[in-house]
Amino acid sequence: MFRAIKKLFIVPSVIFFAGMNPVFADSDAAEGERLYKTLRCASCHAVGPGAKNRVGPQLNEIMGRAAAGIEGFRYSRAMVARAEEGLVWDEENLRAFLTAPSEFVPRTRMAYRGVRDDEDITALMVYLATLTPETNLGVAHIEPGDPEVAPEILAIEGNVEFGEYLSSTCVTCHQASGESNGIPPIINWPAEAFVTVLHAYKNKSRDNEVMQQITSTLGNEEIAALAAYYESIQE
Ligand code: HEC
Ligand code: HEC
Repeated sequence: MFRAIKKLFIVPSVIFFAGMNPVFADSDAAEGERLYKTLRCASCHAVGPGAKNRVGPQLNEIMGRAAAGIEGFRYSRAMVARAEEGLVWDEENLRAFLTAPSEFVPRTRMAYRGVRDDEDITALMVYLATLTPETNLGVAHIEPGDPEVAPEILAIEGNVEFGEYLSSTCVTCHQASGESNGIPPIINWPAEAFVTVLHAYKNKSRDNEVMQQITSTLGNEEIAALAAYYESIQE
């Protein structure tokens, strides 16, 4: 549905920095997060708390960042030269780079053909704009209607092994990785988002009946354990 809205809506670059329309931004951020994996950005660029440089530099706070701005990453001479000319990753420049990396920065070390679909780039940018070293990868999972969970429940430290044991009831539907048959992937979420979402099903503010049923039998400790376990799984 948001795709239709988007066509009527020229994205002003300012939404990437402040005052996002929440409905628009949340659906796009979730889509952008998905694309970040399926378009393989994630295989070269880490994001989220403690993100380290990999084949590519970490991309926290990339929107509005000066090019070649991560200390300790060995950028190509081409990228460094563009940075010295004052290249900043605003919406326009990032869009041009992601569309055709080696045209926008000839001889870049980013060995990537580019993203064809302009809407995909928009979603990627909305997602990238949500990332700071403090925000967890996966905040996009929380929907505007999900109630906040009490701090003392969020603070429960989940037992990973207990979570793994409990997850045997989840794996019949949720594959270890990737989406299949409309069942969303749930690995590698930050525990807080996971707990918030499971409680949203449990208290029926999310209306999927299967998940309401499943969470109705789970206590706070069990939810914390599942969150800890799923957070610990890497792709
Ligand atoms: C095969 C590995 C690889 C893939 C896949 C990849 N990148 Fe890169 N990326 C790099 C490398 C290496 C650099 C550094 C380029 C240079 O120094 O010329 C880079 C640079 C960048 C930069 C500039 C960073 C800075 O600090 O100036 C951005 C932004 C970026 N990539 C975003 C993306 C996005 C978004 C995707 C997915 C659509 C993606 N990259 C896919 C390897 C990759
Ligand atoms: C019978 C199939 C089934 C089982 C078993 C199941 N789920 Fe789900 N789960 C789903 C479906 C379908 C959805 C999407 C529901 C929706 O659209 O709200 C979902 C959604 C979720 C979500 C939210 C995903 C998102 O992107 O918002 C989480 C988290 C989740 N399940 C966790 C679990 C856990 C943990 C278990 C095991 C305790 C489990 N599920 C067992 C079918 C299942």
